[in-house]
Amino acid sequence: MRLVDLRIEDVAFGGKGVAREQGKAVFVPYSIEGEIVSAEIMREKKQFAEADLIEVKQLSPDRVEPECPYFGRCGGCAYQHINYEHQLAIKWRQVRDALQRIGKLKDAPIRPIIPSPKQYAYRNRITVHAQDGVTGFFRRDSHRLIDIERCSISSDEVNRALAELRAQPYVSDGHYTLRAGSEVRVFAQTNDEVANALRDLVVDLVPSNQGVLIDAYCGAGFFAKALLDKFERVIGIDWDKFAIDAARENATAKETYIAGDVETELGRAAQQTRKGDLQFAPAVIPTSRDSLKSVTLIVDPPATGLSENVRKAVIDLAPEILIYVSCNPPTLARDLRELQEKFTIDSVTPLDMFPQTAEIEVAVQLSQRSTPES
Ligand SMILES: C[S@@+](CC[C@H](N)C(=O)[O-])C[C@H]1O[C@@H](n2cnc3c(N)ncnc32)[C@H](O)[C@@H]1O
Repeated sequence: MRLVDLRIEDVAFGGKGVAREQGKAVFVPYSIEGEIVSAEIMREKKQFAEADLIEVKQLSPDRVEPECPYFGRCGGCAYQHINYEHQLAIKWRQVRDALQRIGKLKDAPIRPIIPSPKQYAYRNRITVHAQDGVTGFFRRDSHRLIDIERCSISSDEVNRALAELRAQPYVSDGHYTLRAGSEVRVFAQTNDEVANALRDLVVDLVPSNQGVLIDAYCGAGFFAKALLDKFERVIGIDWDKFAIDAARENATAKETYIAGDVETELGRAAQQTRKGDLQFAPAVIPTSRDSLKSVTLIVDPPATGLSENVRKAVIDLAPEILIYVSCNPPTLARDLRELQEKFTIDSVTPLDMFPQTAEIEVAVQLSQRSTPES
């Protein structure tokens, strides 16, 4: 192990500060660009090195006192030592850098980041783990648990549920998802206020009087249901049967929810659309020729982004409007690089769904490039 003094140049996606030592990138957690730090090199690879922060010798003006006593050990938060304005600036920059470096998109129209009204106590659900009498989260870069009594980014209701779990005489080994309020067992956005801002943004991005909406990775229909008024027909796809059941519960006649793999269903739809019907197994969704001219597709995939086959299906389906909601800028950038052949990027809006953590949500609005009639 070597002790080195480093000047931090940037904060990379994932939350670690980046310095250079003899040209090699060195990642130092809990540091801020502009700071001079003393760090211990823990792992040295050919291309980069990983270090532990030992001391900050020259502090950034953006450094603040973390609120949580577990910060620095718990793997959940990465930015509690940075004031909120600066967290937002870092995240905006990281989106721009991912689009430039991975997506090869030089001048993407990136709008200002939408902040979270709550910077702490915003999470409406957490998953804690219990093992050998320890109940909490994983330590940073580790599979060992840290005992957590209270999570400062979680709502009071979630923390009450955590206290109740911990008060049990014996907590069996396993994973426990603790939720505020409802008993929903399906994917739900984690920060209510920012989720509402995201939903309103997506609604604003779509004009009125449209034909068909396909909401791929729809969960319980979070976007589809908010957009009902603007479409003749709405189709949601998710492979989580519980989510699809929840979406179907209060569905109107114009909504169809399909429990299936987006790859299969969207691939099929892309093939069939040219023939005149939108074909999803087992349902054929009759649609007028006119409405097929104005297909809007929303994709909100997990962090892995779109598979190669889904990207191909999106390009073949050629919706007039495509909205891509992402929780992972690098996979978003990879996918946009390919999708830009067929679509123009009209706007990119980062949202801070997860303050204090390194995660970033992004909503991208695309429209089909006009091609000369053949
Ligand atoms: C990020 S969530 C989005 C949920 C929804 N749009 C919302 O806002 O509540 C991703 C969803 O994709 C679903 N999913 C992941 N991979 C899938 C696949 N290959 N086919 C269908 N659904 C998938 C998951 O079940 C999950 O509901």
